[in-house]
Amino acid sequence: MIESRLVRITEVGPRDGLQNESGIVPATEKIALVDALGKAGFPEIEVTSFVSPRWVPQLADAAEVMAGIERRPGTVYSVLCPNEKGVERALAADAGKISIFTAASESFCQRNLNATIEESIERFRPVVDAARAASLPLRGYVSCVVECPYEGLITPEQVGETVRRLLSLTDGDIEIALGETLGVADPDQIEQLLEEVEIDVPISEIDLHLHDTRGRALSCVARALECGVRAFDSSCAGLGGCPYAPGASGNLATEALLEFLHANEWATGVDRAAVLEAAAIANRITGRDSGG
Ligand code: HMG
Ligand code: MG
Repeated sequence: MIESRLVRITEVGPRDGLQNESGIVPATEKIALVDALGKAGFPEIEVTSFVSPRWVPQLADAAEVMAGIERRPGTVYSVLCPNEKGVERALAADAGKISIFTAASESFCQRNLNATIEESIERFRPVVDAARAASLPLRGYVSCVVECPYEGLITPEQVGETVRRLLSLTDGDIEIALGETLGVADPDQIEQLLEEVEIDVPISEIDLHLHDTRGRALSCVARALECGVRAFDSSCAGLGGCPYAPGASGNLATEALLEFLHANEWATGVDRAAVLEAAAIANRITGRDSGG
């Protein structure tokens, strides 16, 4: 059997990155960034979040951004939704995929969603129903899969429990994305995490969402590839963070991920030169040279 050398990359910079800027980035700039990323040929770009503008004012313009971007065939334009109101707004904006998000840590869930993990799952019921009625695919994020900013270390078993709640909510019809929110994991922790989660989800269907605070994200990618993971999130120019995770810095930079994968003969279908152009736009928007 020939091993697949295809790796699927979801670009999350416009959402995970721009949610974390201290200033409000104009919608026109966000649209320019998404359109530049669109030229790179990602299978999926996470554009924005339909969350409460009281909680994340940086993304209050989600509908305007979704209306302004160019939709390229072959790219799914996905969004985050925490509740029924979110999915109604997302459907009105013609989102291509709905991502719900919870955590393996009760404290983080409370700070991020003002809910217990169980309450967050209950709130997702109408989101799942609406996404299904619209024939849209679902992603389920689990945050704090290795460490929580409030509770410290999180066990793989805690992660497995949240994963099972998401699977049970959706009869298993959901992509599971493991969020290493703090960017502190080492490869051994990632391997232990994957061993637990693959009890319930085939390893080749698990998505790994790495932040890179300690500069170890690429070593974690290498180990995850050895374990059989074939889907990763990354962010152009290493944009990223979470307003409710103090200490978390940027996501794994897409440019670095692509360089690593292509050098090791993994195929992605993503054009690194186009990503570098998008990263230049990201750096202009943020006024930083933040990664890559
Ligand atoms: P709440 O305050 O308990 O909710 O927040 P509420 O129902 O009382 O609503 C508060 C106000 O927000 C009300 O407005 C609602 O109408 C409005 P008011 O009546 O006061 O004027 N509202 C909304 N408006 C627009 N769209 C909506 C919406 N929902 C309520 N969807 C809530 C609960 C879930 C809404 C809030 O906690 C929230 O929005 N949280 C989102 C936090 C967030 O976006 N965090 C970052 C994303 S997660 C992340 O980055 C991690 C990840 O990258 C993976 C990883 O790295 O680990 C994914
Ligand atoms: Mg994140």
